[in-house]
Amino acid sequence: MFNNAFDGKKVLVTGHTGFKGTWMTLWLQQMGAEVVGISDRIPTDPSHFEAAGLGETMTTHWLDIRDTEAVPKAIADEAPDFVFHMAAQALVKASYDDPVSTYSVNAIGTANVLEGLRRLTNQCTAILITSDKCYENVETYYGYREDDRLGGADPYSASKAAAEIIISSHTRSFFGQDDADRNVRIAVTRAGNVVGGGDWAADRLVPDVARAWSQGENVTIRRPQATRPWQHVLEPISGYLHLGAELAERPELHNEAFNFGPPAEAVNPVRDVVIALQKHLTGLDLTIDESQAHFHEAGLLKLTCDKALSYLQWTPVLDFDETMQISAEWFARFYNEGAEGIKEFTQGQLDYYTALAAKRGLSWADQ
Ligand SMILES: NC(=O)c1ccc[n+]([C@@H]2O[C@H](COP(=O)([O-])OP(=O)(O)OC[C@H]3O[C@@H](n4cnc5c(N)ncnc54)[C@H](O)[C@@H]3O)[C@@H](O)[C@H]2O)c1
Repeated sequence: MFNNAFDGKKVLVTGHTGFKGTWMTLWLQQMGAEVVGISDRIPTDPSHFEAAGLGETMTTHWLDIRDTEAVPKAIADEAPDFVFHMAAQALVKASYDDPVSTYSVNAIGTANVLEGLRRLTNQCTAILITSDKCYENVETYYGYREDDRLGGADPYSASKAAAEIIISSHTRSFFGQDDADRNVRIAVTRAGNVVGGGDWAADRLVPDVARAWSQGENVTIRRPQATRPWQHVLEPISGYLHLGAELAERPELHNEAFNFGPPAEAVNPVRDVVIALQKHLTGLDLTIDESQAHFHEAGLLKLTCDKALSYLQWTPVLDFDETMQISAEWFARFYNEGAEGIKEFTQGQLDYYTALAAKRGLSWADQ
């Protein structure tokens, strides 16, 4: 898998205690990597990081990513072969509550990681994760491409656009014109809304439904027609890992950006999501309120992922029903049987995903 790029390598993951970070850490460990993390805390309770006992299997630097001294030093001291930067204030709603800290965590935090990379003397491949929301949403019907305009009407989106500009500036200023001049290669990735087991972030549909189901509470859906592109958390993570492995071998991918999203037609209303979840969360008490179906929704932000297909032969693996099924099954397993054995259950979902990827012809799964 991934050309064996991670076996025996040291991989530094920032934000490893969060939703994506926990899945990525487990996957990397399964492939034989030594994972070290930078995070300021365990962000949720319950927590996938704690339930899977990850703290006992890796070194964590408990640091605020805004710490301009400690973060670059930790990266330089670790001298990793790969860096995946995911530490962020990741919620749009929280960005309205505290815009300045969202700007500083997401933009200055990224600058600190880049400063750490500048201090390295070893070969290192770095994948910096921003968001689909870094694109200026011009309320159009087409999917955004990597060279579309950056921007953001809300503080979270602006913080991600700012991180992108900093990455581009730092990469061009400090990471060599020619490949022979540089020991660090950098690429940036943009993905959207993800779902899956182990997510307990506030105000997200799937965790909210699973939590209510576990307590026998009714779930009322007030905007059932609202559409989003939905993808399982393993889809962008497969993209990040594949890009990392390819960038380590292919200097021409340095300073490139990639979208990782579901196919353009995989845009489903919230109604479809909760009905799909209900099939696997037995007895889910669901009310779908269609009375506000006429409300205008902001233009949907979709990604075009032709570049990932063309340069990396990357596509998503799961269809909509499979995505919802394994997400619901994870929460059902957790709430029915508790944390005991959840790490093995997560690893089983990883095995299912990679086997399906190989069967469906994804090049990263075969290599
Ligand atoms: N989850 C999604 O749907 C989604 C969509 C698009 C982009 N993203 C991006 O992907 C990345 C990971 O997202 P996630 O869903 O795993 O987020 P998450 O909130 O679950 O995890 C964020 C991680 O960052 C850490 N963190 C937050 N503030 C920090 C600080 N000041 N110092 C150090 N660590 C800090 C947290 O402890 C946690 O480990 C983020 O960059 C996010 O913006 C996520």
